[in-house]
Amino acid sequence: MGFRIRSLNLNLINFLLMISIFNLSLSSAMDTITSGQFLRDHETINSENSDFKLGFFSPQNSTNRYVGIWYLSESNIIWVANKNQVLVDASGTVTISSNGNLVILDKQNMSVWSSNISNIATNSTVKLLNTGNLALSEGKMGTTIWESFQDPSDIMVPEMKLSINKRTVEKVKITSWRSSSDPSLGYYSYSLERPDAPESFFWFNGTRQYHRTGPWNSRIFLGSPTMSTGWSVGREDDGTVYVTYNLENNADFAVMGLSPQGQLWLALWNNKREVLRQGIKGFYCDLYGICRAFGSCSAQSSPICSCLNGYEPKNLEEWNRQNWTSGCVRKKPLECAGVVDK
Ligand SMILES: *[C@@H]1O[C@H](CO)[C@@H](O)[C@H](O)[C@H]1NC(C)=O
Ligand SMILES: *[C@@H]1O[C@H](CO)[C@@H](O)[C@H](O)[C@H]1NC(C)=O
Ligand SMILES: *[C@@H]1O[C@H](CO)[C@@H](O)[C@H](O)[C@H]1NC(C)=O
Ligand SMILES: *[C@@H]1O[C@H](CO)[C@@H](O)[C@H](O)[C@H]1NC(C)=O
Ligand SMILES: *[C@@H]1O[C@H](CO)[C@@H](O)[C@H](O)[C@H]1NC(C)=O
Ligand SMILES: *[C@@H]1O[C@H](CO)[C@@H](O)[C@H](O)[C@H]1NC(C)=O
Repeated sequence: MGFRIRSLNLNLINFLLMISIFNLSLSSAMDTITSGQFLRDHETINSENSDFKLGFFSPQNSTNRYVGIWYLSESNIIWVANKNQVLVDASGTVTISSNGNLVILDKQNMSVWSSNISNIATNSTVKLLNTGNLALSEGKMGTTIWESFQDPSDIMVPEMKLSINKRTVEKVKITSWRSSSDPSLGYYSYSLERPDAPESFFWFNGTRQYHRTGPWNSRIFLGSPTMSTGWSVGREDDGTVYVTYNLENNADFAVMGLSPQGQLWLALWNNKREVLRQGIKGFYCDLYGICRAFGSCSAQSSPICSCLNGYEPKNLEEWNRQNWTSGCVRKKPLECAGVVDK
């Protein structure tokens, strides 16, 4: 009798242990934040498929903290929330505020960033979806009221829609980081234009076009035959026209990004292993004057900018960092260098 009770207790203990282990893995695999929950620096939430995480990160050579979403590892940031509102230390938190918005709070619990939706009636929840989209939803039906895919950073991922609304001319577009250590809004952007004959434009400083894909002919962008498989253009009832891409093979993942220098690049993973990362050739040099004064551009060479014969970089250190801003200047006349020509 006594023996049987003991073994029963042992079973109970095993059972409780199993439950607590189960709970542990549940909480570390959490994919939502609801009101009253706080995500602290160094904590993350995962998408159900574990491909994506939402958490805090610092870009290379920066100690600022940002809240972002990454694919597999922090070196593949696909979205940044507080691009223009930095956290200077690790005391930030992410939560749902009393007005129902997703917010980032600093040490003093002051909001540094908000999803900024007005009139949220009921408790809302934010969930990191298997596509890498972060969605804020409310009500019993879980209606989506805000999503990160509608406020992209510098990267387009499968199923994200870049769009233009024919009526309001509102755009969902990609904007480069200011520099590789600063995710604030940079100089280059990529958007869908001309809703009646949709075409992707690349912009410098919001006003100067430096590349166009050619119009969509219902199968491809005429000027960019490589942007074909998986790409599609669609229309919604409210006048929104969008471009998106999907991958046929579920084992594949691909992103397209715009570098701080305006270069379009691609990265491809197969079974979560990176198999390709490269700039799109023949693209960058289309930006008129990219190599600045007395520079010439060649997509086939690396680096792509060089100085014309008889010229040299005005600021060599800058030039070596592939910052072409200062351009090239005529090489110093020989006599100035104290050399006598024979
Ligand atoms: C970070 O700093 C190191 C050393 O100064 C430099 O070599 C590297 O290119 C920098 N990385 C970025 C992304 O700025
Ligand atoms: C910030 O809010 C949290 C949670 O409500 C609270 O525990 C903490 O004391 C607050 N911090 C400050 C500085 O008010
Ligand atoms: C929040 O939205 C309101 C209007 O909906 C707008 O006026 C305000 O500038 C927005 N704030 C931020 C920080 O985006
Ligand atoms: C929101 O959540 C709080 C705390 O969980 C709860 O007390 C309240 O009733 C909820 N409100 C609505 C409108 O669901
Ligand atoms: C960007 O455009 C603004 C006007 O919209 C202009 O004042 C500024 O000089 C431009 N910057 C560059 C780097 O061209
Ligand atoms: C490039 O150099 C210029 C100064 O000549 C500087 O203003 C600019 O911020 C630099 N750009 C990057 C991306 O570092």
